Amino acid sequence: MNIPLTLSVWIHITSAVLLVGGIFFFRVILLRHAARIGGLSDELRDALASRWLHVAGMLLIVLLVSGLYNFTQRNALWKASEAAVSPHAIFGVKFLLFLAVCALTALASVSRGPKFHGRRKMLMAVNTVLGLLIVFLSVLLGMSY
Ligand code: HEM
Repeated sequence: MNIPLTLSVWIHITSAVLLVGGIFFFRVILLRHAARIGGLSDELRDALASRWLHVAGMLLIVLLVSGLYNFTQRNALWKASEAAVSPHAIFGVKFLLFLAVCALTALASVSRGPKFHGRRKMLMAVNTVLGLLIVFLSVLLGMSY
């Protein structure tokens, strides 16, 4: 058993669960419910966004580092794959979407104040969809070699 790879995949999947679950909770539970009870104060909303930037930023870095390590360990197997869609192609699309999630997370966190409340909600909704799409591509990736 390859213990470093097992640990790295575990760290990677745990970070993915926390990131996608966190975005989902923020957007679908917190922001939506807050709107129903009259909204959060601007101060609290900005404080939550700033905390989220730190946590999401750390999770994205862990995903990048563990993902690159997993990639080096899987590259040879991927090259030998005879699947209709090559694992490298799926990985490429996944990586582009990952960059989009990074950019939208940064944008959502700097969109402070009431003026940008709507924009932040929209960015987080898009990020929820992108996160779920990346998980789907990851499953395809796992099945393509
Ligand atoms: C939002 C970001 C990301 C999410 C939600 C995510 C999610 C996942 C999940 C759920 C798996 C497990 C799939 C399975 O075993 O069936 C996985 C595998 C993998 N991920 Fe990511 N990932 C993200 C970012 C990245 C990045 C940035 C990289 C590379 C730089 C990467 C590289 C990989 C590799 C190489 C595997 C395959 C591991 C293996 O088969 O052993 N991921 N990812």
